[in-house]
Amino acid sequence: MPFADDVRAGLTARPKTLPPKYFYDELGSALFEAICLLPEYYLTRAEAEILTARAAEIVALVEPARLVELGSGTALKTRFLIEAGLTRGALSYSAIDISETVLLATAKALASQYPALAVRSYQGDYYDGLRQLSADQPSQSNGRTLALFLGSNIGNFDPPQALRLVRAVRAASRSGDALLLGTDLKKDPAVLEAAYDDAIGLTAAFNRNILGRINRELGGHFDIGRFAHRARYDAEAGRIEMHLESQTDQTVAIDELDLSVRFGRSETIHTESSYKFSRDDVERLARESGFALEQTWTDDAGRFACNLLRCAP
Ligand code: AVI
Repeated sequence: MPFADDVRAGLTARPKTLPPKYFYDELGSALFEAICLLPEYYLTRAEAEILTARAAEIVALVEPARLVELGSGTALKTRFLIEAGLTRGALSYSAIDISETVLLATAKALASQYPALAVRSYQGDYYDGLRQLSADQPSQSNGRTLALFLGSNIGNFDPPQALRLVRAVRAASRSGDALLLGTDLKKDPAVLEAAYDDAIGLTAAFNRNILGRINRELGGHFDIGRFAHRARYDAEAGRIEMHLESQTDQTVAIDELDLSVRFGRSETIHTESSYKFSRDDVERLARESGFALEQTWTDDAGRFACNLLRCAP
């Protein structure tokens, strides 16, 4: 079971870590949706502002016959692109997501809202989804594809993993195809830290829920109140790091892993990195993965960017 294996590996490593993909059980996904409404968490609103203003322009540049979204979620912001695409003619939408429940709900909602849209869904991680899509190759033969990787999701990958993933998107693309990549921009650390350590403690609950998940699913005995949420910007690495910091010396048993984990006072579990990008960072990522950065749009306050990467010939 990957969750059990990853928890064992992460909590016996030094420094201790847990992979951020395990934030998103049912409770964690609901907490993340609520985070997107927080005044401090500007990312979602800034990206929606860009897509509202620019969807028609983006679609006119790419002329896609097909949208492919990595990590579709509820596809709320995607609707701006879908609507712009449908005004130009036939369009299909393929969603890749790890959660079958989310995929089914999104596909159903889109199919009823846009009867002219051909909706397909691929359950799995991004690599599985891209593989399944490529196996569907004949249905892709007409027209261009615009791949979507929105919401700063790329930021949760360390640079080598981010490069590997964008290269996989490039390998599944053909000349003229493009990738729209949503990236959070480097900025004042105080603004960034507030976005990941909000006043009402939602992000703290989201972070600590990973311990709750270990308790619920693996028979863990974490006393969650004895772990504090920490979010700090590391300017050199260009990333927000989220940690859970042990408030005391303590030992925590996890029954299903037959494991006892010792924590020193102030020792942390690194739960997430959220990379922030400059224009140069995006340009380099594009170039090294076989794309060229064609255009970048930002929100009016210059906090977030949507980047159009085109397959380099
Ligand atoms: C999903 N991901 C892009 C979010 C981010 O901003 O890194 C997850 C998140 N972590 C804390 N708040 C939101």
